[in-house]
Amino acid sequence: MDVFSGISEIRRVRWAEPSATWGFVPTMGFLHEGHLSLVRRAREENDRVGVSIFVNPTQFNDPRDLDAYPQDMERDLGLLQDEGVDLVWNPGQDIVYPPGYETYVEVTEVTKVLEGAARPGFFRGVATVVAKLLNVFQPHRTYFGQKDAQQAVVIKRMVVDLNFPIEVIICPTVREADGLAMSSRNSNLTPAARSKATCLYQALLAAKELFEGGEDDAERLSAAMAGVINATESARLEYVSVAHPDTLQEQTVVPDRALLSLAVFFDTVRLIDNMVVER
Ligand code: PAJ
Repeated sequence: MDVFSGISEIRRVRWAEPSATWGFVPTMGFLHEGHLSLVRRAREENDRVGVSIFVNPTQFNDPRDLDAYPQDMERDLGLLQDEGVDLVWNPGQDIVYPPGYETYVEVTEVTKVLEGAARPGFFRGVATVVAKLLNVFQPHRTYFGQKDAQQAVVIKRMVVDLNFPIEVIICPTVREADGLAMSSRNSNLTPAARSKATCLYQALLAAKELFEGGEDDAERLSAAMAGVINATESARLEYVSVAHPDTLQEQTVVPDRALLSLAVFFDTVRLIDNMVVER
């Protein structure tokens, strides 16, 4: 496994065998089974696999959140080595954003709601860094998690709109045994909060059950999710949503498919989760 911080080294390895197919998984590190599920899928479907580990400053609007982002490079590299990854890019901030940097990618519509509304500038940072990562690796396929449903929609939109000749593959959310979606941020939860954090999944399941029982009123589905969170000690609901899975527009009546999603704070730790329900 080659590990580099420089762009020219990544390009050299990437183009050493021009006929090999490449799968690429962008990450911010502190890897868990969710990340590794993307790596395994990439490993199955491509001759070579590249991974980036870069905590992208432009997608954090609160510097404290950036500083609190957990890191363990040695452990991450061991995990990636065990998965048979070929190439890892771990650049410093000044390599990705050198002095004088002033170019950003903005996906204008699907970023207005949900995470985009709650975290101004977030998707501008995500789209910009992913565009740059894709330009450095130039993979055939790139892998993202359904865990970040809106991010998946934004990246698919950008790849179509900017004519990247790359297939975007979305992989299912990997959960802990109690249903909590795996996230690097989970490590910032206190033990007490960790024991309550399954409420996001429970809220989604409650709405799913209602939906499958025939409920098509988005407000009642939202109320079911909010009810579970509000009944959980120390959980603070930021939003619940019942949206169209592709356009992310809020629905009033759900005809056949919906993206249920929510964001919840435990003290300063912000967790998100989602589920697509279908009749
Ligand atoms: P990060 O949070 O490290 O996630 C990297 C990838 O892993 C994303 O595609 C994310 O959706 C996926 N992932 C995270 N938790 C998952 C889980 N429990 N199950 C399945 N997939 C999961 O998302 C980012 O980094 C950044 O925004 C990035 C795309 C790297 C740009 O900086």
